[in-house]
Amino acid sequence: MIKTDITKSKFEQAKAHLAGGVASSLRASMKPAPLYAESAKGARLRDVDGNEYIDYLLAYGPLILGHAHDGLTESIVKAMRQGYTYGLQHDGEIELADLLTEILPCADKVALSGSGTEAVMLALRLSRAHTGKRKVVRFHGHYHGWSDSIFTSFPSAGLAQNDAGSDGASIVPGTAGQSENSLEDIILLPWNDPKVLEETLRAHAADIAAVISEPVMCNSGCIQPKEGYLELMRQLTTELGIVLILDEVITGFRLSLGGAHGRFGIKPDLVTIGKAMGGGIAISAVAGNAELMKLIDDSTVSHLGTLNGNCVSTAAALATLRELAKDNGSVYEKMEQLFITLASGIRELMKKHNLPGVVNQIGPVFHMMFIDAEEVTDFETFNKKDGAKYAKFAEIMLDEGILIRPNGLWYISTVHGQDEIDQTLQAIDRSLARLN
Ligand SMILES: Cc1ncc(COP(=O)(O)O)c(C=O)c1O
Repeated sequence: MIKTDITKSKFEQAKAHLAGGVASSLRASMKPAPLYAESAKGARLRDVDGNEYIDYLLAYGPLILGHAHDGLTESIVKAMRQGYTYGLQHDGEIELADLLTEILPCADKVALSGSGTEAVMLALRLSRAHTGKRKVVRFHGHYHGWSDSIFTSFPSAGLAQNDAGSDGASIVPGTAGQSENSLEDIILLPWNDPKVLEETLRAHAADIAAVISEPVMCNSGCIQPKEGYLELMRQLTTELGIVLILDEVITGFRLSLGGAHGRFGIKPDLVTIGKAMGGGIAISAVAGNAELMKLIDDSTVSHLGTLNGNCVSTAAALATLRELAKDNGSVYEKMEQLFITLASGIRELMKKHNLPGVVNQIGPVFHMMFIDAEEVTDFETFNKKDGAKYAKFAEIMLDEGILIRPNGLWYISTVHGQDEIDQTLQAIDRSLARLN
């Protein structure tokens, strides 16, 4: 059994003065307790009780180069020695903007922020300013950060009641304290349903400023878009004068160097990127076409933030992206192959242990779930998964030396290798036996 005495006592100590005992609400759900990390290197992490894990949580996605990557650390330290942030302009932000516009197919210009939530806020603001309209179409099971104007109850079967989509006032807010009016501008639709999308966009085009969508529904089952769905989204939004925002906070620099839109060959008007962009240092961006981004150039739209584009974050992003771009981005093929091996190994082990389940994998990310279904291709089916069983599995996996998210989403980094995959499959074999 893993030792948790120190972790548990630290959590009690934290609760005295740290609200909720954790710094982001989601983290409190980990069982047997929210872990306290001591140190980490590469694909491995050690907690304060001395337990060691192969890490597939990867800080909820940013650690695409693994922990404490030498090159990234050196770049950050070098930048810090010259001053962390000036509130003035510096070369790092020019270099990063140049690199991002080179890498991201949809980007003529970028604007830098600190988190995915902020990037989404800016993208929505640009869309409204550009179109002069106010409604925003978003989809069940997608997550776009925690700002009031977009944060719905998540993920929740209760969302199904809002299918009609035209009355945002009936959408359930994501949290207490959110104004009841905050979601008035939201039209909430089921994702991957071309008919509902086309009908809604045509019926409400005069009011709709933007459609915002994860290109792959990573936040709810890692569900891929149906063939032609994103293309239809692109075609309709162009035709109807609606801004298309792809929220690539997870998929950006993960599904390929050019993100999901690079991988799928779709050109949105705006993308929001974060997480993997800084390799673990806080930075995000909106990238998009010149026509929209010029609203910042000419000060029509305010884009603010004390620490935007600080030297540490731009150095981290530059180092991360340059590392990922080496050898024509060959690390993507490596990560994908390892995750194909891991995902298919898990499917076989679930069969062996007679535990019905699905693993939806694309590139270096997958969602594993226990569910009595052949496939999971929509949010409604995804909601039928046995979340409690998976949380128990994640707890057993800790005991077997593997750190995973209790909700089923797995990430891999460039420094995970075949050894880690082999050890992980052995641990899964033992964990599934214990789960039965
Ligand atoms: C698709 C997507 N958009 C936006 C966000 C918000 O990003 P952040 O947590 O950096 O504010 C997240 C976070 O998980 C996300 O998955």
